[in-house]
Amino acid sequence: MSMLSTGLLSKSSLLAQAVEPSSKPISANDHINVGVIGPGSRGKELIRQLLRVPGVNIAAVCDVYEPRFAEVNQLVGKPVPAYKDYREMLSRKDLDAVFIATPPVFHAEYAVAAMNHGLPVYGEKTLGFTVEDCNRVIAAVRQTKQIFQIGHQLRYEPWAQKTIQRIAQGDIGTPTHVYAYWHRTDNWRRSVPDPKLEHLFNWRLYKETSGGLLEELGSHSIDMANWIFRSQPETIVGSTSIVQYHDGRTVGDNVQAVLGYTGGRRMFFSAITDNAMIGDSVWVYGTEGSVELTLEDATFYSATSKKITEASHTAAVDRGVKTGASFQTNWEMPYRGFGDRVRLDAAAEDPTLTACRDFIQCVREKRQPLASVEVGYASAIPCAIGKEALETGRTMNLPALPSA
Ligand SMILES: NC(=O)c1ccc[n+]([C@@H]2O[C@H](COP(=O)([O-])OP(=O)(O)OC[C@H]3O[C@@H](n4cnc5c(N)ncnc54)[C@H](O)[C@@H]3O)[C@@H](O)[C@H]2O)c1
Repeated sequence: MSMLSTGLLSKSSLLAQAVEPSSKPISANDHINVGVIGPGSRGKELIRQLLRVPGVNIAAVCDVYEPRFAEVNQLVGKPVPAYKDYREMLSRKDLDAVFIATPPVFHAEYAVAAMNHGLPVYGEKTLGFTVEDCNRVIAAVRQTKQIFQIGHQLRYEPWAQKTIQRIAQGDIGTPTHVYAYWHRTDNWRRSVPDPKLEHLFNWRLYKETSGGLLEELGSHSIDMANWIFRSQPETIVGSTSIVQYHDGRTVGDNVQAVLGYTGGRRMFFSAITDNAMIGDSVWVYGTEGSVELTLEDATFYSATSKKITEASHTAAVDRGVKTGASFQTNWEMPYRGFGDRVRLDAAAEDPTLTACRDFIQCVREKRQPLASVEVGYASAIPCAIGKEALETGRTMNLPALPSA
């Protein structure tokens, strides 16, 4: 098994990966001073969750848009030292960790700089905007031996962990296909107080700063597929267009992508912005069953062939199911039974809170997180290269994790 597949898969082995001590020892009771770069929508959410983690102090913020500083002060309940240039913030001597939530084009530069300053990093997805970006972050983690966590908080959802454990145990046989949908009714456009701020506020809508729906939403789904298949995709092909929002944006308002994994396994990703019927869900199809993962639960279904009986066939026909000439009760029934829901013992907390809590614990214990830099690489590469695949319609090969 490759290092990547081990890294993507094994919680216990990842948790056991101690990192070399950084310059400043941190005791269990010490405050962890956090600096946040890019406290916009996601950055403020991270701050909100960090404020719920004992021992965390929001020590500094950096943003190119000054009004963010007052918003952060209000959230934190005190004035937080503020910087417009990330280098000035990083030169503070009291920081213990940095969170990065800027648009993706800046992720690699800022993460590498923070690690070179001896600081652990929680980096929002995606790891990098380009393949070169991703390689730079991987190299920096290896060289500095710093802690790096990628913002794939779904890895911390208890029902997703339980589901993927059951899939790994063979509960749906061999998983062969992952179909992920991110269907919304949302034009993705933000209102802008001044036209000069269009690109700063609506960076998601322009190719220079955004990989569009594949990068922004698909990266989470691709991460799920990587986790399920225990590997990184090898190819990507797809298409995109603007079907509804002809408003000057240069990224598509819908995307369809097919990712190829070893052994012919496939992942399909679809995002549309003008109909939320399917919503956000990931279907995993295996040789002996299926499972649907949503943002709140998961439901397992046994393979149809095991459930079908003559009686259920007759009942389906009686209630009006129309069948074609080749209809067979064994493999074509539009019936999937009631399913077996993955239940949680207690109400789950927001996975972003769990992800933040675990990152802070990693900083204290000097170990690499579950959502490691390798996890980030495996989802970012298809998005980085996917931009060209969607535009040209060509099947593109994806590079594997560079060897150490
Ligand atoms: N993990 C998740 O579920 C999740 C959810 C939403 C967003 N995100 C990610 O978080 C990141 C930010 O998304 P968002 O919706 O919060 O965007 P946003 O535009 O709301 O916030 C980005 C902030 O960064 C600031 N900024 C821009 N350029 C900067 C620079 N050069 N230096 C410092 N600050 C700069 C902006 O002024 C803004 O305040 C993206 O990478 C996005 O993919 C992750």
